[in-house]
Amino acid sequence: MSKRVEDLTLAEAKAELGGLAQQIGRANRAYHQQDSPEITDADYDALKRRNTAIEARFPQAKRSDSPSDQVGAAPSEGFGKIAHQVPMLSLENAFDPEDVIDFDRRIRSFLGHTEALAFTAEPKIDGLSLSIRYEHGTLIYAATRGDGDTGEDVTANAGCIPDIPQTLLDAPEVLEVRGEVYMAHEDFRVLNDRLTAAGEKPLANPRNAAAGALRQLDVAVTRSRPLRFFAYAWGALSQELAPTQLGAIERLRALGFKTNPLTRLCQSPDGLLAHYAQIESQRAVLGYDIDGVVYKVNELALQARLGYRSTTPRWAIAHKFAAELAWTRLESIVVQVGRTGALSPVARLSPVTVGGVVVSNATLHNEDYIAGRSRNGELIRGGKDIRIGDWVQIYRAGDVIPKVADVDLTKRDPAAQPFTFPQICPDCGSPAERQAGDSVRRCSGGLICPAQGVERLKHFVSRGAFDIEGLGAKQVEFFYADEVLPIRTPAQIFTMHARDAANPLQKLKNRDGYGEASVAKLFAAIETARQVRLDKLIFALGIRHLGETAGAVLARHYMDWTAFEAGVLAAESGNAAWAELTSIEGMGNVMAQSLVAAFRNPAEYAAIAALIGHLQIQPVKPRAVASSAVAGLTLVFTGTLEKMSRAEAKARAEMLGAKVAGSVSAKTDLLIAGPGAGSKAKEAEKLGIRIIDEDEWLRLAAGT
Ligand code: IVH
Repeated sequence: MSKRVEDLTLAEAKAELGGLAQQIGRANRAYHQQDSPEITDADYDALKRRNTAIEARFPQAKRSDSPSDQVGAAPSEGFGKIAHQVPMLSLENAFDPEDVIDFDRRIRSFLGHTEALAFTAEPKIDGLSLSIRYEHGTLIYAATRGDGDTGEDVTANAGCIPDIPQTLLDAPEVLEVRGEVYMAHEDFRVLNDRLTAAGEKPLANPRNAAAGALRQLDVAVTRSRPLRFFAYAWGALSQELAPTQLGAIERLRALGFKTNPLTRLCQSPDGLLAHYAQIESQRAVLGYDIDGVVYKVNELALQARLGYRSTTPRWAIAHKFAAELAWTRLESIVVQVGRTGALSPVARLSPVTVGGVVVSNATLHNEDYIAGRSRNGELIRGGKDIRIGDWVQIYRAGDVIPKVADVDLTKRDPAAQPFTFPQICPDCGSPAERQAGDSVRRCSGGLICPAQGVERLKHFVSRGAFDIEGLGAKQVEFFYADEVLPIRTPAQIFTMHARDAANPLQKLKNRDGYGEASVAKLFAAIETARQVRLDKLIFALGIRHLGETAGAVLARHYMDWTAFEAGVLAAESGNAAWAELTSIEGMGNVMAQSLVAAFRNPAEYAAIAALIGHLQIQPVKPRAVASSAVAGLTLVFTGTLEKMSRAEAKARAEMLGAKVAGSVSAKTDLLIAGPGAGSKAKEAEKLGIRIIDEDEWLRLAAGT
């Protein structure tokens, strides 16, 4: 029995608070990091109550790391991370029947198939994807998609979803089941009624509700918010589930998973479109949100041949439903400056619900879009311009930023004037210029423009880039304007800790909004961020035209920073390095030019070099199979391939860990020459490069 709090001495109180901090901390870790809880909820509450009581009587003994200051007792680390053994990909989108016909055509051309292909078609569930790993039939962990390579450990939360079995009978030794966690309309309504009755804010839509419910450090909250799960795919497997997509889904159902009852096998694009219409007609009465129909090649052997691009499979596509529409009033137009200096007009709207989400902003793209006439004189919205005060029709397709579909001219105030687009940067006042052939007006202030500086930094720390916990958009704005501990360049993020340590008077921990713990956490997060993956780093640089996919394809091609930097610096229109850069699948000329220009710009290059000095850049692990005869080699294909399309050969080579270049150079290891090979074969001969024919390539590609 412990002493009554009233009877404790100060020394005893101090000692006990130390012990309690340890015990509570340990219980938090056991509970939240999803090891099994070590003590019951009642015992945990008793510890917390005793801690609070002692602190109330001896405020002077309260510890700086007191458990009572930890909101909701959430551990500062948040969720554990889980690396997906097989990446979790996203899907390419189709918006109209043409896109679907094209999808089928592209696949058949890749495979060199002339006959019809069978596809499955099933609803695209609007929830969040989850990967659940079973070993010997026992659930080992569940992870969110995250960035596709690493997700969050939500094992304990997934345990609260009745549709997810804890154990499986007759399952492969290793089985990762993938699917969508969602909330049914009825459950969503009941939950929102409950929240409203409790005086809390209702949730915007079932998807947000599902995401919020799954990502709860406090599992009790997950348990109180009914979630469901449809299985539609798989990750790592020790044994094939079936020879076809449909068979595999059937097998998952037999193992005890819910699979979508509207899944069908279709024999042609027409069949897919017919089933799409069927699903769309039932959309309103399904009882859960869907935002399209997913088509997948049925034969798994063909799926394997088709393989993946950097973030999407070639064998599947999501055919999205048409966007939802709503009318509202345009209150004002503000012009924001982006990280590349682009002046981006944004419509401020009278809030309106579009497809379950309240929208109060819409993008207006550029001045031509507002004027209703493109730079080549084509009409936009039938030539209707957009004026402040107009009634505008807003559309929203899934996660896409809302846009203006139409303007109601009958409701226009006769006094309304056409919008005058600013000719100077609203932030730094530099002239805003428009290059010939560009619809975007850009601030010419470059590095002196604070708006561009802040936006670049926001991009740098964003998800998909450095993603530093505790350094989001809000904090970036704060530190950008800060005189004591300014961050105006990416490199300065990594000198923050040292600068703070060297400042004897104004420590960050003593400033508004910060304390010892939050500062320690921020510096720890920055420390961790020094270890950065090459693809994320390239994306983070914020070079115009280079998005996340470009970061991924460049990283996969050059493999490490040194090779990437050397390749870009050496590239000059027409030379071998330029040919290498532009031969990378997914790298267009415009992207390559923008990349090379950024590295050539002395100020930009200096900023990049300063940053690199603070980082440990992780080279890309080849996504290759265990051993392959061509792993690490640079291949060039030339002439006609007769047994495999050029696209498939290239994809196969990349899957086997090889690089494929468009032209022969001293770096080429192997030339695969089909009939009709010309100058490339001659060049290879001259350089003493090994040349093989298609049959030999097929043997290599098959791993024999
Ligand atoms: S298949 C390799 N099937 O859509 C392809 N995805 O936009 C794996 N989704 O990340 C995905 N319903 O979260 C597939 N029936 C379905 C789906 C589905 C919803 C989600 C999934 C994916 C996202 C891509």
